[in-house]
Amino acid sequence: MRIAATADLHFSAQRFTALKDQLGHVRDEADLFVLAGDLTNYGQPQEMEPLLNALVRLRVPIVAVLGNHDYESGQEKELMRMMSDEGVKVLDGSAYERDGVGFAGTKGFVGGFGRGVLTAFGEPEVKAFVRASIDEAVKLERAMSQLRAEKRVVVLHYSPIAGTVQGEAPEIYPFLGTSRLAEVVDRHGADLVIHGHAHHGKLEGRTTGGIPVHNVAITLLQQQTPSVVYRVFDV
Ligand SMILES: [Fe+2]
Ligand SMILES: [Fe+2]
Repeated sequence: MRIAATADLHFSAQRFTALKDQLGHVRDEADLFVLAGDLTNYGQPQEMEPLLNALVRLRVPIVAVLGNHDYESGQEKELMRMMSDEGVKVLDGSAYERDGVGFAGTKGFVGGFGRGVLTAFGEPEVKAFVRASIDEAVKLERAMSQLRAEKRVVVLHYSPIAGTVQGEAPEIYPFLGTSRLAEVVDRHGADLVIHGHAHHGKLEGRTTGGIPVHNVAITLLQQQTPSVVYRVFDV
């Protein structure tokens, strides 16, 4: 299966007009399109509606997770409903199988990497913050344990490794993802991990277990030569 992937569209009509032509080729180049979160800027249905209109016209199956921006207005449930109604498979701690390829996805959360992972110690506020991070790892665990397909793709918004956030300011690494997610991926095994969120990170990295991780934030893809708006992976 050829999987096209992008993230961080941060929809605005103006921005999308510029992308339209390039996105129009997805159907020729891929069998499925993955959107790894931050589809909107402020998480408003008024943003999602025109985006969905454009996405439907691509006439390609779409698998998506939401990003932090899609939560900004507290309307994430409504956004997910709108997407599902248009046939987009939204993964939120859930799995989906198509043509022998299994997709497991969740938004993920912040929390830091490796020895720098924040732990649940001290104030209740810290514990609540860490709880949110662990909850997303548990959701990924649940999604991955549902996979039966031999080929497995993990879709996240936040990064599971520090490797693909390199390029961002080191001060914000802990807010770009958490290796708690990578631990789950390594435990269950996958062929490919796709994420976004780190707009100025690095294209590729690997988990400790050697699983390839790709940052498909569109700003990062557009900086490449040649400039692209999605990448295509073969699984
Ligand atoms: Fe983003
Ligand atoms: Fe984000």
